[in-house]
Amino acid sequence: MAVGADLKLDARALRADFPILAQEINGKPLAYLDSAVTAQKPRQVLDAMTQFYETSYGNVHRGVYALAERATEAFEGARERIARFVNAPSSRELIFTRNATEGLNLVAYAWGLTNLGPGDLVVVTELEHHSNFVPWQYIAKRTGAGFRMIPLTESGELDIDALDGFVADGRVKVVATNLVSNALGTINPVERLSAWAHEHDAIMVVDGAQAAPHLAIDVQALGCDFFAFSAHKLCGPSGVGALWGRRELLEAMEPFNLGGHMIRKVQFEETTWGDLPHKFEAGTSPIAEAVGFGAAVDYISAAGLEAIQRHEHELLSYALERLADVPGIVLYGPAPERRAGIVSFNIEGIHPHDVAQVLDWEGVAIRAGHHCCQPLMQRLGVAATNRASFYLYTLPEEIDRLADGLLRVRKVFG
Ligand SMILES: Cc1ncc(COP(=O)(O)O)c(C=O)c1O
Repeated sequence: MAVGADLKLDARALRADFPILAQEINGKPLAYLDSAVTAQKPRQVLDAMTQFYETSYGNVHRGVYALAERATEAFEGARERIARFVNAPSSRELIFTRNATEGLNLVAYAWGLTNLGPGDLVVVTELEHHSNFVPWQYIAKRTGAGFRMIPLTESGELDIDALDGFVADGRVKVVATNLVSNALGTINPVERLSAWAHEHDAIMVVDGAQAAPHLAIDVQALGCDFFAFSAHKLCGPSGVGALWGRRELLEAMEPFNLGGHMIRKVQFEETTWGDLPHKFEAGTSPIAEAVGFGAAVDYISAAGLEAIQRHEHELLSYALERLADVPGIVLYGPAPERRAGIVSFNIEGIHPHDVAQVLDWEGVAIRAGHHCCQPLMQRLGVAATNRASFYLYTLPEEIDRLADGLLRVRKVFG
């Protein structure tokens, strides 16, 4: 670890913590510009998981022997640190899930099936990842509730003025949005949306998958009711995520998955549910993954979320400046001050997959596709975009290599 909280981040020194970044791809140093899809892992996280497996592994909340107790302590310790990381009032409100998608499905099923019906409305956004769009569209259909999208402005931001128009269409019960868009990088006004949702007695559900790795999160200040995120996007392992929810809502909800560990008492006639968070954690948990998640939160907290955000903002401004010089480039998304370190673009007349393929020859890894945001692609009038995304280990010269690679793309495709 090469930085302290609130200091300027030294990405060059930090890279020493990430063994995977030291390799060559196609004979060129790897420039990994796809952290929005998943982030690379520092040695600190890998070591925490290895050490846990080598010294303390056991199942949690089940045994009375030393190993089981040690494992439970590590698992619950991780839960506490992750809860603090998002400023949850209590770690009992922090449920371990498989990923952000599972957390959002948990809310849509366990809250939505009981609380939605004909005459109700679910409001999502045109900027949503499918993970916070499809579950709500499906549950709205199943319960007979209406389904609406907050449209986007030309600059790729939510048109908040459209909200009041929904009220005439039904009782708004759910407002669901991401805090940071994975496709455009837009930082959405969640505090305002939460206030609006609560004025209308609706719940506010936040997809924090793309926000938690890059911004300091305070679920209480956001004013939301649910906040879902994944470990793998914040330097942690895949296979684990978390859902924070307001205690009174979680307590009133039916369970999502059923089986071992989530029960209080099982009898032939009836089963009763365990306390929070166990009611929502059926079966064996992702134990070592949760320990790795805790280590990842420690790692990025030590780097400093403000320092990370500042670093990514500098990279974003630099990238927008460099890429503007590429002939035929179309850049999407709002002004840098209202956006995270994500640049979506197309090059006129060249398919995004061809662009990404030529960049791979140069050792530059970027994403090409619809980014699980097909409604947004429809709004932009394209099938796909290219996307470069940055993190705490990204260097300005990797952006130079992206810009130079795009000039090569132009040459290859004429
Ligand atoms: C904004 C956003 N929401 C949700 C997800 C889904 O995350 P996961 O696949 O970890 O569940 C992603 C992943 O790309 C995302 O970027």
